[in-house]
Amino acid sequence: MKKITIIGTGYVGLVTGAGLSEFGNRVICTDIDKNKIEKLNSGIIPIYEPGLEEIIKRNISDNRLLFSSNIEDAIMQSEVVIIAVGTPMGANGATDMSFVHSAVETISINLNSYKVVCTKSTVPIGTGKEIISQISKKVKNNNLFDYVSNPEFLREGSAVKDFLWPDRVVIGTDNQNAYQIMCDIYRPLYINKNPMTQTSIETAEMIKYASNSFLALKISYINEIANLCEALGADVHDVANAMGQDGRISEKFLHPGPGFGGSCFPKDLEALLYISKNKSLSMETVNAAIIVNKNQKKRMANKLINLFDGNINNRKIAVLGLAFKANTDDVRESPAIDIIKGILGNGGIVNAYDPIANNEMSKIFHDIEYFDNIYDSVKNVDGIVIITEWNEFRSLDLQKIKKIMKGNIILDTRNILDMDELSSLGFVYDNIGRIKK
Ligand code: UGA
Repeated sequence: MKKITIIGTGYVGLVTGAGLSEFGNRVICTDIDKNKIEKLNSGIIPIYEPGLEEIIKRNISDNRLLFSSNIEDAIMQSEVVIIAVGTPMGANGATDMSFVHSAVETISINLNSYKVVCTKSTVPIGTGKEIISQISKKVKNNNLFDYVSNPEFLREGSAVKDFLWPDRVVIGTDNQNAYQIMCDIYRPLYINKNPMTQTSIETAEMIKYASNSFLALKISYINEIANLCEALGADVHDVANAMGQDGRISEKFLHPGPGFGGSCFPKDLEALLYISKNKSLSMETVNAAIIVNKNQKKRMANKLINLFDGNINNRKIAVLGLAFKANTDDVRESPAIDIIKGILGNGGIVNAYDPIANNEMSKIFHDIEYFDNIYDSVKNVDGIVIITEWNEFRSLDLQKIKKIMKGNIILDTRNILDMDELSSLGFVYDNIGRIKK
């Protein structure tokens, strides 16, 4: 088992650090944000991620996990240094690499002994080579380090599970010693099966973008099929189910909805487009997935307005679910942002409710009303829009809701409500691509 430093305690860094300590390694999670480290040391976990707090607490008390803002010292103590800093979207879809480069700088001046330098952050293809040359310029002795690309495939909301039981672990390096060290840090994973895949650095970097873009493409594809189903009277759930039974297609990521959001798909697709343009290549499929997604997000407001016969002026609408998906408080690129803008822009009034993302959304929309309880949020509203597939929305007491709301309109953008029940209670409703009952 190895001594590891993680640079960056965002969601990737924290989950990776906690997961690697759970595998028996001794991990120091570091960050330049001293405040964050202080909070982590006093037991405050800055993100909502199911199961994370439990493994962090267990590994702290077993002395396998530490938090420190002394990055230099942590690097010097470690054999593996993992870069997990943010790579936000910069201008024109290019990735902002400033945090990565400053982490690499810190690593290069603290290479007191041989280390594997590994990148987990999603970085443009070619970054590995740049990092190797950045370090080489500083250290002169190239035997002091090897470089590995080890992209993450963690979904927010199930990141701990994805880390502890991954479908695959991609290790991009041509160096067998570095590969073996990386295999060691993931050792408990291949007691039963071997999920390790060794590739070149560039291939590993590409696997991440290719995987995310393909999943996003699947979503945009099923959303377009859903929209066509609506126009033609077909049912998208039956279509997706039957499509998914074909092993070549698989049923995953074929759920139609209000469009994909989050900190990954929108950013990574733009980055891949930017990368391909730089090589004078066009990626029409990726471009199409982006356009379809933007249109899908806008389409939700139109669907709502249509349910109100074209006018939502002064109508009060409860927006249920603000996070970009269930089990996270992340609202980045959430379709809830588009629907709220659509409602406000057309003269409507918003009551917002999310079990955990109210606070995050209030940083974007200050002037709408937020509720801590779903039934309070629907009191006297004219209509309801469901944006996030939270479990608590799947089992709503629709009878009670019908009594306390003023109107009878529901737009279910996640297709989670029972259409028979909606009809029998007299709701006027719409969803995505289903045959209405
Ligand atoms: C995604 C990938 O799934 C992870 O493998 C990857 O590591 C991560 O990006 C990343 O690059 O860090 P994440 O963005 O957390 O993970 O969430 P997903 O579960 O993939 O969902 C993304 C969006 O697609 C959400 O808005 C979700 O509601 C939407 N979606 C997903 C659909 O609309 N339909 C589906 O069938 C699936």
